[in-house]
Amino acid sequence: EEIEKGGYDHFMLKEIYEQPRAIKDTYRGRLLADQGLIKMSGIDQNLEKFLNANRIIIVACGTSWHAGLVAEYIFEDLARISVEVEYASEFRYRNPVITDKDVLIAISQSGETADTLAAIKLAKEKGAFVFGVCNVVGSSIARETDAGAYTHAGPEIGVASTKAFTTQITVLTLMALKLAKEKGVFSESRFHEYLTELETIPAKVEKALLANPLVEIIADVYKDSTNCLYLGRGYNFPVALEGALKLKEISYIHAEGYPAAEMKHGPIALIDEQMPVIVIATKKGHYEKVVSNIQEIKSRKGKIIAIVTQGDEQVTELADHVIEVPETFESLTPLLTTIPLQLLSYHIAVMRGCNVDQPRNLAKSVTVE
Ligand code: AGP
Repeated sequence: EEIEKGGYDHFMLKEIYEQPRAIKDTYRGRLLADQGLIKMSGIDQNLEKFLNANRIIIVACGTSWHAGLVAEYIFEDLARISVEVEYASEFRYRNPVITDKDVLIAISQSGETADTLAAIKLAKEKGAFVFGVCNVVGSSIARETDAGAYTHAGPEIGVASTKAFTTQITVLTLMALKLAKEKGVFSESRFHEYLTELETIPAKVEKALLANPLVEIIADVYKDSTNCLYLGRGYNFPVALEGALKLKEISYIHAEGYPAAEMKHGPIALIDEQMPVIVIATKKGHYEKVVSNIQEIKSRKGKIIAIVTQGDEQVTELADHVIEVPETFESLTPLLTTIPLQLLSYHIAVMRGCNVDQPRNLAKSVTVE
């Protein structure tokens, strides 16, 4: 096992550090920037299904559901396709309206999650075209779906999902970009700009990982917290949810993720000097609005840990701690902002003496209801 950990103390840390490579492996052979092309056989062979779809329904659980939420923003924003994101467990039992004009995308690292598998079967019975985004090759979901695209994250051993999340977002981004181009929503030049930017992401993830020693210092300050709030807007709202889930599952600290603007509709009541609030405040994407949310937290004496774009000044002045990530297109920021949040939950869990790779009560794949 020590050999498999490759010198890291835990699989989770190893998998966090594998992300630059995993993201590259996921787009390798698909993203052909020099030819101005995205090649994905699962889509190429079923292009009409996607182009004629009424809407895309995404079903998933846990972290994969968070990747689905990011995909909702990407598909709607870039490809102008209407998307609904559902917890597989709710979808399968609520008598959903599904027709043969719907495309259902099932996202699952393991490809074995019982609720996601059942949702796929239901959608197929109703005539929808079902596409899988899985990591495990030959898994049940990969076999049950009409077509699909694998994430090439490699085996994920840590129960807390890390590289599966960022590679799912990578696949879904490729899909959205491809459809944006096929639909004529994207010009050649805009498409090309995106492909080129996507190719810079692995190096930018490497840079984001350089914050690790700083994140460790911040973790030490907040390791004894009992509650934690995560806020983000737009593309980074799902990242806030994912950050909170990571902290909950491995450190057992109660954490909530919220869209930043929703804070004043309830969670703001929780804020006092004991409450760490992690705010994703990157330059693009409602920056000024997030700044005013940060001011609201500050005036109630909450402790602010902000994830900011390199070179940020405004939030840096207000926050108690800032962690920088490189600049990128707004739609690609989740691939970077999620990195410090993974590291933060990892270090807090280690400092609290938790079993990071196998947290209590959790299984890597949930094959029962
Ligand atoms: C993530 O950290 C979890 N442990 C969990 O939420 C997981 O993402 C969920 O069970 C879905 O699993 P899947 O992707 O294998 O379907």
